[in-house]
Amino acid sequence: MELFEAIRNRRSCRQFLPEPIEEPTIRQILEAASWAPSPLNGQPWEFIVITGTETKTALRKAAEKCHRWALEKSGWKWLDGYRMDFLTQAPVLIAVVGDPRKTGVDMFQEEGTVAYQHACAAAIQNMLLAAHAAGIGTLWFTFFEKTDVRRILGIPPEKTPLALICAGRPARDTAPIPRKDVRTKTTYL
Ligand SMILES: Cc1cc2nc3c(=O)[nH]c(=O)nc-3n(C[C@H](O)[C@H](O)[C@H](O)COP(=O)(O)O)c2cc1C
Repeated sequence: MELFEAIRNRRSCRQFLPEPIEEPTIRQILEAASWAPSPLNGQPWEFIVITGTETKTALRKAAEKCHRWALEKSGWKWLDGYRMDFLTQAPVLIAVVGDPRKTGVDMFQEEGTVAYQHACAAAIQNMLLAAHAAGIGTLWFTFFEKTDVRRILGIPPEKTPLALICAGRPARDTAPIPRKDVRTKTTYL
């Protein structure tokens, strides 16, 4: 698949078929992640591949708890209809875990230690694109309390669970979602 086509046509997928993803495809997706740039080439990411029903169910329950809290806190009506069945429906979830100790010189800067998260985000985007090119739909999911995900996945306190990537064959075509014209977001100096 041509790169721009992959970038342009990837969409978040929230409905998956139950069929498993073959191991070589999972490895290719993770390999794509590992070629992302990172400060000092520190590669501050780790991945946990989850296929077990019990773990997925525990993650879904944690996400539903976060959902109830967010609904109450925000009062956003659209959240009421938001369901997270995809957390148990997707054949594979990949937790992306960042290591703040592997950030760059930003650790000495006022804004604090954030560059490791940027690197993990770059790795995630590589994963989404590699998955898309292999016919796998994905969702970048962050609707959880880090303490819950740490407990469920046995992640030590010094590392940070940043995202759960839900992956599987899409159950249906995803509706196109618009973007603003990039010219409205660009300044030339
Ligand atoms: C950092 C980040 C966090 C996100 N978290 C969630 C999430 O928790 N739940 C969800 O359904 N989508 C989540 N998304 C997906 C966005 O909703 C989606 O990318 C956006 O609506 C644009 O749609 P598209 O991916 O189909 O282009 C997240 C995306 C990013 C980049």
